[in-house]
Amino acid sequence: MTARLFEPITLPTADGAGLRVRNRAFVAPMCQYAIDAEDGVPTDWHLVHLGAFASGGFGLVVTEATAVEARGRISPRDAGLWNDAQRDAHARIVRFAHARGAAAGVQLAHAGGKGSTYPSLPGRPLGTVPAAERGWPTVSAVDGPVQPGLAPATALDEAGIADVVDAFADAARRADEAGYDVLQIHAAHGYLLHQFLSPLTNTRTDGYGAGEEGRTRLAREVAAAVRKVWPSHKPLGIRISATDWVEGGWDVAASARLARTLADEHGVTWVDVSTGGLQAGAAIPVGPGYQVPYAAHLTAALAGTDTVVSAVGLIEHAAQAETVLATGQAHAVSIGRAALRNPHWATEAAAALGVPAADLPRAEQYWRARW
Ligand SMILES: Cc1cc2nc3c(=O)[nH]c(=O)nc-3n(C[C@H](O)[C@H](O)[C@H](O)COP(=O)(O)O)c2cc1C
Repeated sequence: MTARLFEPITLPTADGAGLRVRNRAFVAPMCQYAIDAEDGVPTDWHLVHLGAFASGGFGLVVTEATAVEARGRISPRDAGLWNDAQRDAHARIVRFAHARGAAAGVQLAHAGGKGSTYPSLPGRPLGTVPAAERGWPTVSAVDGPVQPGLAPATALDEAGIADVVDAFADAARRADEAGYDVLQIHAAHGYLLHQFLSPLTNTRTDGYGAGEEGRTRLAREVAAAVRKVWPSHKPLGIRISATDWVEGGWDVAASARLARTLADEHGVTWVDVSTGGLQAGAAIPVGPGYQVPYAAHLTAALAGTDTVVSAVGLIEHAAQAETVLATGQAHAVSIGRAALRNPHWATEAAAALGVPAADLPRAEQYWRARW
């Protein structure tokens, strides 16, 4: 029996052709905080880091949260896609991934009020980077700190929101020019789009708040603007936090409604289902596959559309990933930390699940490793 994890998957596209990806093991987006120059230009680190996953057999390799404008970075050391120098550095990574048979995805992001924070690296402080250390003022849905310990953000007015939407579209155009196959809009983990989605952080009373229609408007406008410039033969996806894990917060029912609208009206055909990240200290029952039930909920809610749903979060073992897919809880899995520990996770999983040696997704240079 063929392992479901290593059956190719087609990510639907607006033109109907679809993008065929060699297997269902995707790399989750992971910030590297590796840009010493603080200019948003991906470095050799990113080439080697992401390139290793492509050599390691993953079907789709997704970049770290890539900021659509400088103030949208989480930390000063994050990648961006707001200028051509950044685009050209991304293009090199994409070329390498393609040469290794992997599809290349970019996660486009705006950190909003969670921007300008210290990189999450050993020995670094927590909280906001001050202006004296090249930090910057942040923006959000409303005035005030998004989380305790962060500097207060300033509420975006309608012109400011339009600028953010334009920045997503510009970055999407550059992502296409860089050769990316897949674009994922980051609407999860408490960053700007999530700050607008959640009633916990969006108490606006204008057309961008005041009920679910208003709170989802920015995400819908971003998807629409990106869709306009992102080619019809390339899949468009979104990453959501399907729950804030807080009573009265953004929840799975609202997530399903948003995903359905994005699929029906804006051609979003891939939903990567994460959770949390908005409210510090939320009680999250972390354990193996703890977010999979949320992916399963979205998979069921989107039945009848052709949307691909991926599950993520402590999916670490081949058999575990296979079970998620074989039981119909998701169509693909995104692998994060297990891939950091072992960039060859996908090849190893394929061998463990009985994929014949000749069909392993490894680089041919590594054939003598004899998985
Ligand atoms: C080092 C690191 C950086 C991360 N950066 C991002 C990011 O840029 N964008 C994002 O959506 N999630 C990010 N995440 C979350 C992961 O994509 C993933 O959802 C999470 O780690 C859970 O999956 P895992 O248990 O397989 O690691 C990051 C996680 C780690 C460990």
